[in-house]
Amino acid sequence: MEQNVLLQLSHISKRFKTDLALVDISMSLHPGEVLGFLGPSGAGKTTTIKIITGQLRQTSGEARILGTDSTNIDASIYEKIGVVSDNSGIYEKMTVWQNLVMFAQIWGVSNARVEEVLRQVGLAKHRKKQAGKLSKGQTQRLVLARAVLHKPKILFLDEPTSGLDPATAVEIHKMLLDLKAEGMAIFLTTHNMEEATKLCDNVALLHKGEIVEFGSPQELCLKYNTNKRYQVLLDGNEELVLEQNPENIDKIAGWMRKNQVQRIHSCEPTLESVFLQVTGKALSA
Ligand SMILES: Nc1ncnc2c1ncn2[C@@H]1O[C@H](COP(=O)(O)OP(=O)(O)O)[C@@H](O)[C@H]1O
Ligand SMILES: [Mg+2]
Repeated sequence: MEQNVLLQLSHISKRFKTDLALVDISMSLHPGEVLGFLGPSGAGKTTTIKIITGQLRQTSGEARILGTDSTNIDASIYEKIGVVSDNSGIYEKMTVWQNLVMFAQIWGVSNARVEEVLRQVGLAKHRKKQAGKLSKGQTQRLVLARAVLHKPKILFLDEPTSGLDPATAVEIHKMLLDLKAEGMAIFLTTHNMEEATKLCDNVALLHKGEIVEFGSPQELCLKYNTNKRYQVLLDGNEELVLEQNPENIDKIAGWMRKNQVQRIHSCEPTLESVFLQVTGKALSA
């Protein structure tokens, strides 16, 4: 295994009866890296996380997490990872504080660390609230708090902001960037391309169980910027989108010489349009 690799997937495939859910997935994750698995519903994102974390067994290939084969994970590995998925595992009758302290005791984590995490996720003032009475966004923050209490080396997030309002999603993004800055590696699945663009160092575009593209969001957007276009706002608020060709370049140069250009932007594709170009399928579908 390559040095300094926290997670390495080699040629993982998964078949459910006759359905191929994952096809020959290979990738690796390093400290402080945020890796995004990007794909629409049914692409195989959750299946990938389940295989890596030992909740599901692959049909072929190998996953190694912190040096251990994922089919052979024990408690010593669970002490070093955190998982945020649909099944929140929060005790609704207990308060925010009680929920966290219970896990802190299991992990051997101090109450001081619980305080620190509570502040980090912005739940300090809700510590006495019953978990079942939290809003959706607050619940997700509690789930995140629980997942990072023991300072895991890898945090797995399965669509962490799905169904949250945009403002709460932004707060969660801030927390994730803080955790990344602390050196935590994050494996994130999402169908939200803006989230992936903002958070991920690298993204794997997943289509029908296959990685069809891999790279940094910027790299991919530039790679698929084959049909270069410019958006120009002229005096009199006339807005135009022009393809890059000799004729249009002369036009733009002419306007610039006459000082008639108020604003000019290049139109790189977004990850969403890259995904559409590569797969012919929209991410939100
Ligand atoms: N336990 C299962 N049994 C049979 N098929 C499954 C099971 N879990 C997932 N699948 C199938 O595998 C594919 C990938 O699912 P999943 O990993 O949940 O996708 P995603 O998380 O990207 O939405 C889907 O076609 C889904 O129906
Ligand atoms: Mg899923």
